[in-house]
Amino acid sequence: MEHRALTRLAAPAVAALIALTAGCTGGTVQGRPGASGLRDAYFPKAGNGGYQVDHYALDLDYDPADGELRGTAVITARAEQGLSSFNLDLSGLKVEGVTVQGEPARHNRAGNELTVRPAEDLKKGEVFRVEVDYGGKPRTVVDPGGAKEGWITTEGGAVGVGEPVGSMAWFPGNHHPSDKATYDITITVPHGYEAVSNGELRARTDTGDGRTEFAWHSPEPMSSYLATAVVGPYKVTTTKTPSGVPVYNAVAPGEEAESAVPLARLPEMVEWGSGRFGPYPFTTTGAIVLPKGTLTYALETQTKPVFSGAPVEEDLVVHELAHQWFGDSVSPKSWKDMWLNEGFATYAEWLWAEDHGGHTAEEYFRAFLTGDTDVDDDADLDWDAFPPAAPPGPEKISETPVYYRGAMVLHRIRQEVGDAKFFDLVRGWAADHRHANASTSDFTAYAEKRTGHDLKKVWDVWLYGEGRPH
Ligand code: TRP
Ligand code: ZN
Repeated sequence: MEHRALTRLAAPAVAALIALTAGCTGGTVQGRPGASGLRDAYFPKAGNGGYQVDHYALDLDYDPADGELRGTAVITARAEQGLSSFNLDLSGLKVEGVTVQGEPARHNRAGNELTVRPAEDLKKGEVFRVEVDYGGKPRTVVDPGGAKEGWITTEGGAVGVGEPVGSMAWFPGNHHPSDKATYDITITVPHGYEAVSNGELRARTDTGDGRTEFAWHSPEPMSSYLATAVVGPYKVTTTKTPSGVPVYNAVAPGEEAESAVPLARLPEMVEWGSGRFGPYPFTTTGAIVLPKGTLTYALETQTKPVFSGAPVEEDLVVHELAHQWFGDSVSPKSWKDMWLNEGFATYAEWLWAEDHGGHTAEEYFRAFLTGDTDVDDDADLDWDAFPPAAPPGPEKISETPVYYRGAMVLHRIRQEVGDAKFFDLVRGWAADHRHANASTSDFTAYAEKRTGHDLKKVWDVWLYGEGRPH
């Protein structure tokens, strides 16, 4: 295809093209289009090539009465190549205008791709600022596994979430976990509503026209699938963990009574995690309890996991908090690496039980091997359906083997290397990849180096092997 196109070009154009590929731009800045996707094995169009985002400043205005969102996204990014155009991911909504470096930029849309053509090409290494004005009724995305994400309206409000690809339904961006950035998310809502997002609440301002502006700041880098925006008549309570991390909890009306006990334990869970996994990676913590039934899952949104109704199972709170280390601070390089998130968060549930008078991780591991549902209700699920490091498709990345067999991989390492080396590995992994991205092969190499053990059999059988290990 490319070859055929090239033969149709006139000779001078070919010469110019050759000069360009050779890097001889003769003084004028010449860019080429950034890729429209990062070729993720499961979500090839997610994310975009040619740049990396440093910061998102999202200004969102939401009116629960009509469900309209008005947004301004100011994205600060660095060009990784000369760019004549670049893409942002955005699903639905109407784009009102785009500027690059303050200059109006041409733009067009196809599917979930917003292509931006700056007035002047961007140079490799250049830090640039894109502003997108947009609005409309954001859509609910149904992910390949059938779960709802994106923007979901609730009784008197709404929630924006995004694992794996729903964040593009409420803001334009580089929506792939490998591009982490810091965020300022400001949400303006009518009086009487709360607006909650990741990080710390910098200011809560009466705008003087019947509305309140909530300015949320995330100083640590975040993958866009971990961003959240929640609007509604929530009940907010604040406290601190024993070591002084501020806790901000927002609970939907009617869920307060059942949420009280599990949320009362949240500070000690964060403290416990710091002991087991190393220092808590963020400056704030907390939880958001949505109206029951809003989602079919809980989500580890950064610094404030969301629960769909009161998290009556204490395990679930431990799981989402453990993700703050594994998934949120140490984030996957691709969606194939999901077991690094879910295996660790599930193993954390076993460890919490072990440390608090429940079953030991060894007992959980054996219960899954034998299908003993007295120890765990899920022990007879088909955790052996596929290898955790190779889910057969995008609709499988949140299925049983990713969670339970992922946790079993970690326990197999513990059996091989013993407790001292295993917990040193867990803490080392969290510390050495803090606020960064890592892949499965990064993990296997790290585990062998850190423990000094050859773990090839564990990888071959438990991580990559088909069928039931024995
Ligand atoms: N990460 C969520 C949890 O804590 C579950 C989840 C929701 C998920 N949507 C997903 C996992 C999409 C992978 C992909 O368990
Ligand atoms: Zn999880």
